[in-house]
Amino acid sequence: MKLIRDPKKLQQILQKERARGKSVGFIPTMGALHEGHLSLVRASSRENDVTVVSIFVNPTQFGLNEDFSKYPRVLRTDIKMLRTLKADYLFCPSVSAMYPEGYATFVDVSPRLANVLCGKFRPGHFRGVATVVVKLLNITGPCRLYLGAKDFQQVTVISQLVRDLNMKTQVRVMPTVREKDGLAMSSRNRFLSPGERDRALTISRVLFACKKNLLREKMGFVASRRRALSELKRSVERVQYFEIVDPRTLAPVKKYQEKMAVLTACFVGKTRLIDNVIIRNSDK
Ligand code: PAJ
Repeated sequence: MKLIRDPKKLQQILQKERARGKSVGFIPTMGALHEGHLSLVRASSRENDVTVVSIFVNPTQFGLNEDFSKYPRVLRTDIKMLRTLKADYLFCPSVSAMYPEGYATFVDVSPRLANVLCGKFRPGHFRGVATVVVKLLNITGPCRLYLGAKDFQQVTVISQLVRDLNMKTQVRVMPTVREKDGLAMSSRNRFLSPGERDRALTISRVLFACKKNLLREKMGFVASRRRALSELKRSVERVQYFEIVDPRTLAPVKKYQEKMAVLTACFVGKTRLIDNVIIRNSDK
C-alpha cells in the first residue's frame, strides 16, 4: 500500500491506472478505522482492480463548537489495519493541501436535504461534506464510491450530488456494521465510558423495536415514534431527533410506503451518536 499526501500526485497516478484499463474503487474516511470502514475497503477490493482509501479529518464539516480538534487521529494504527487488507493507495492530505490559502469554492446543498435531521443541529455540515467529497472524487476519479448506510443522510446527500453534478462514479452503499450486541460501530464509540457504552445500546434496541412495530402495523407512526422517544429519553442525555423519513427526499412519512428510514441522533454523555434502520416492504 502506497501512502500519498499530495493531491496532484495521486491524481496523476490514478489517471495512469485508469489509462491501463484498471477500475478504481474509493473509500473516503476520517480515520480511526474500525470494522465498518474495513467492510467498505473489502467490498472495494472485491469489485475493483485498484482500491484507494482517504483519511482526512475535514475541517469544513465541523462546526465551531464541535469535536474537530478532539476527533481521534491514529494514523499508525489505521495504516496497520489497512495493510492487512488489499488497499492499494492511502491518501492523507494536509488541511493546507486541500484548502490552500485563498480557497473559495463550496458545494451548496439544498436546505431540503442539508438543513434537516443532522443538518438542523450541525449547520454547514453537509456543505462541508459535499465540498470535500466532490474534491476527493475529482482527485481520485473512481468507478465506484463506497459509503456506509450508518451515515444515512450523508448517503442521501452524496447520491443526490453525484446525480445532480453528472459525476460518473457509481455509489455503492454498504450495510451498517454493528458490535455483537447491536451498537453501530463508530469512531466516536471510543469516547464512551463503560456505563455510557451500556446506555448507548438503547439506541439500536429502540430502532429495531420501532421497525418491528411498524412492520407489524400494530402501532401507528405517531405512537411508534412516541414510544421510541420516551424509551430513548430514559437512557440517553439528549435525543436530538428521532424521525421516520423517505430515504430519498428525507421528508417525514406519515403512512406506510415501500421504503422508509428511521433515523436518530442522541447524546450519550458528551458523545453524539447516530444510527438508523431501513424498512422495506419486503421485510414484512
Ligand atoms: P467517517 O465517519 O470516517 O466514515 C467513513 C465511511 O465509513 C462513511 O461512508 C461511513 O458511513 C462509513 N461507516 C462508518 N461507520 C460505519 C459502520 N458502522 N458500518 C458501515 N459503514 C460505516 O463519513 C465520513 O467519515 C466523512 O463525512 C467523509 C465522507 C469521509 C467526508 O469527510
